[in-house]
Amino acid sequence: MDQLNSNREQWNSRLGFILAAMGSAVGLGNIWRFSYVTGENGGAAFLLVYLLCIIAIGIPIIMAEFTIGRKAQSDAVGSFEKLAPGKPWIVAGFMGVASAFIILSFYGVVAGWTVKYFFSYLTGGFAVENDAQYGDVFVGFITSTYEPLLWQFLFMALTIGIVFMGVKKGIEASNKILMPLLAILVIILAGYSLTLGGASEALSFLFSPDWSKLADPNVYLAALGQAFFSLSLGMGALITYGSYLSNKEKLPGAALGVATLDTGFAIISGLMIFPAVFAFGINPGDGPGLVFVTLPGIFDSIAFGTLFGFAFFFLLAAAALSSAISLLEVAVAYFIRKFSWSRQKASLIVGGVIFLLGVPSSLGIGPLSDITFFGKDILDSMDFIASNILLPLGGLIIALFMGWGWKKSDALADSDFGDTALGNAWIFTLRYVAPVAIFLIFLASTGLLKLILGLFS
Ligand code: TRP
Repeated sequence: MDQLNSNREQWNSRLGFILAAMGSAVGLGNIWRFSYVTGENGGAAFLLVYLLCIIAIGIPIIMAEFTIGRKAQSDAVGSFEKLAPGKPWIVAGFMGVASAFIILSFYGVVAGWTVKYFFSYLTGGFAVENDAQYGDVFVGFITSTYEPLLWQFLFMALTIGIVFMGVKKGIEASNKILMPLLAILVIILAGYSLTLGGASEALSFLFSPDWSKLADPNVYLAALGQAFFSLSLGMGALITYGSYLSNKEKLPGAALGVATLDTGFAIISGLMIFPAVFAFGINPGDGPGLVFVTLPGIFDSIAFGTLFGFAFFFLLAAAALSSAISLLEVAVAYFIRKFSWSRQKASLIVGGVIFLLGVPSSLGIGPLSDITFFGKDILDSMDFIASNILLPLGGLIIALFMGWGWKKSDALADSDFGDTALGNAWIFTLRYVAPVAIFLIFLASTGLLKLILGLFS
């Protein structure tokens, strides 16, 4: 195993690592998932809880994952094996690999939709008479049987191809150009969207909280799940990326950079989407189709709209690709080490299985729409189990491992914090704040917290 280890790749540079981690974080989660989850959970109050989750839980756990990965120089499972042999922490690694399979299976479906939209704009856009028809176009597309599968297949083939080529050539190279372009485009579109007439409603929806929304415990769970999903957290993706870092580079700056960019992206895409939602009279709680219905409306009313539509969906698909790569890499890195497979073999087999796993999620919207769990279709159910349960649970274990399973002085040194006030605050957060918060949110969402509080009142 040690010999294999010396063959592990490394990032070319610290910047390459940071960009790859940013590429993992910024994806469909920031635009597609952020906008519809924010819409469904009432806007500003949700956003506030989301920001708290990023600061109090997300950033400290990013740091923990980076530190674990760089120290162990191994994959999500191997890192725990190496650092704490025979200890139960390793379940976080196994849950991580399982989550990678689940998340990428449905992620590939939605990413396929973005590829389809990109091709539609490339070939001239959609033939509709009014904005209302964009909803029909979208629903017609995603409920059909074969077409979405085709685009999902195409997207997964691209993802597999890049992971196949390896960490440096594939992953590092693809992030450097596309992300800045997407950022610029989202800012331009947000600026335009704010002139559409729905701006004041959108701004108050996003920034002036309706506190009564905080009475619903599911808002907290949704915010927690969104924070983990958007930051690529809780399943060892950042452990895996950290493991390709060689020398002593400063981790805290990288963690803060990733979280700041990811959150900035989400908020600006909120500013892009919600003014259009209100200007076009769409219900913000309309669910996963929000982006695919509002944005074509914007492109319709803008000069050079087809060009913008093409550029936007191209870049969104590219952002989804850099995230999908990180998901696949978690599982591939594990299979390479565990079964001594070549990178090529692992990419093809694991990627192929994940594509097949995603097929029910796609069909569950159309032909299999009778299959639901608690009122959610297959795709939403997969998303819920992975994002709202497995990721926070994985994050909880990672926080406890770093906070309690490591000697404090080692943790401070290995994270580059050193024995500073910030470093001590980090350990305190990992030991108490993040675990208690995650635990309480879980309790609340099951209704147990209310029951317990009721006993005391
Ligand atoms: N963060 C990505 C997004 O926002 C999705 C993603 C990539 C992810 N890697 C992950 C989510 C690991 C959870 C865990 O689109």
